Amino acid sequence: MNSNEKLLIAALKGTKGNKIPFWFMRQAGRYLPEYRELRSKAKNFLDFCYTPELACEVTLQPIRRFDMSAAIIFSDILVIPHALGMRVWFEEGNGPRLAPVNEESFSELAVGGMKGKLSPVYEALRLTKKSLPKETALIGFCGAPWTLACYMLNGRGGDFSAVKAKAGERKEFFLKLLSLLSKAVTEHAIHQIEAGAEVIQLFDSWAGILNDGEFSEYVIAPTKNIVAAIKVKHPNIPIIGFPREAKNNYSAYAKETKVDAVSVDQSVPLEKVKELQKICVVQGNLDPVLLAGDKETMLAQAENIVSALADKAFVFNLGHGILPQTPVENVRLLSDFLRNR
Ligand code: CP3
Repeated sequence: MNSNEKLLIAALKGTKGNKIPFWFMRQAGRYLPEYRELRSKAKNFLDFCYTPELACEVTLQPIRRFDMSAAIIFSDILVIPHALGMRVWFEEGNGPRLAPVNEESFSELAVGGMKGKLSPVYEALRLTKKSLPKETALIGFCGAPWTLACYMLNGRGGDFSAVKAKAGERKEFFLKLLSLLSKAVTEHAIHQIEAGAEVIQLFDSWAGILNDGEFSEYVIAPTKNIVAAIKVKHPNIPIIGFPREAKNNYSAYAKETKVDAVSVDQSVPLEKVKELQKICVVQGNLDPVLLAGDKETMLAQAENIVSALADKAFVFNLGHGILPQTPVENVRLLSDFLRNR
């Protein structure tokens, strides 16, 4: 191992160190009182994301408390549809809302204006990079095309089965949308890398609702193109893919997309995760519900995960994001456990 390499980067490149790198999806968020305090001062959620000083501060908050191996830049997957020209807003308690895209409004979406509109995200990355401890890695991220398309066609979160139907019925339009999104994701990832991101994670949160054929066409194919396009410019930046709830399709995803690592949700049994470790580096997979619950049960499962998976290069994470009701003390206990393991 290159001795200057950060723990997370070394693991993502397949080198097992003597410590286990860890970070948590949604590690910056509402479970932290200092997050809620700053959030209450911002006009709205997107404004919060687009104010570099605030985004930087919120990114650093969990690092100060828990000293994770990596910080993930505070932003959202929906900045891409927003920067493409869609109306996006967040309703208190209701989550994201968008004015849905259709065949007509599609022609108004443009990749060209994205870099300017997303410049506050790049500025936040530059600021964060300067303030992070030298051993802490900085992660940039994007939503993957399928998951972005779900929100863009549906206009809100929840049940995306209508999107599946629409994709099948208006195939040509849907594939054009995925292709535009693949370009947008590639650009945003490359710009984040150029602003200081050392790793990119692609969130495909709704991959699990697809059948095998759809998974191959809507998840694997676009992700494979994005990974290849990023690697042309930045071959040494590790890419983590998270096709959440992909069940038996995790291994095809790992083999075909050529991501460096796959993030696994909590529904995958550890014996199956071990199988996946024969193909790629794995990140995961503590149930966020356990992190929010009884401390002994949570630590016992963390130990199960580590003893099953950490004899190879491995990144400890949750199976999905930290829940808002999670006690700060539980995150501290888990972080201490992992740092000292
Ligand atoms: O700490 C981090 O992980 C970095 C920041 C981050 C956020 N969203 C901040 C956020 C990341 C990586 C995301 C990714 C994201 N955003 C995903 C993929 C991961 C997943 O959760 O499946 C998705 C689907 C979104 C879209 C989105 N943004 C939803 C569905 C919501 C509402 C749900 C909720 O938790 O309220 C958001 C809002 C959002 N993004 C919040 C945060 C901290 C909460 C909003 C607030 O503070 O008011």
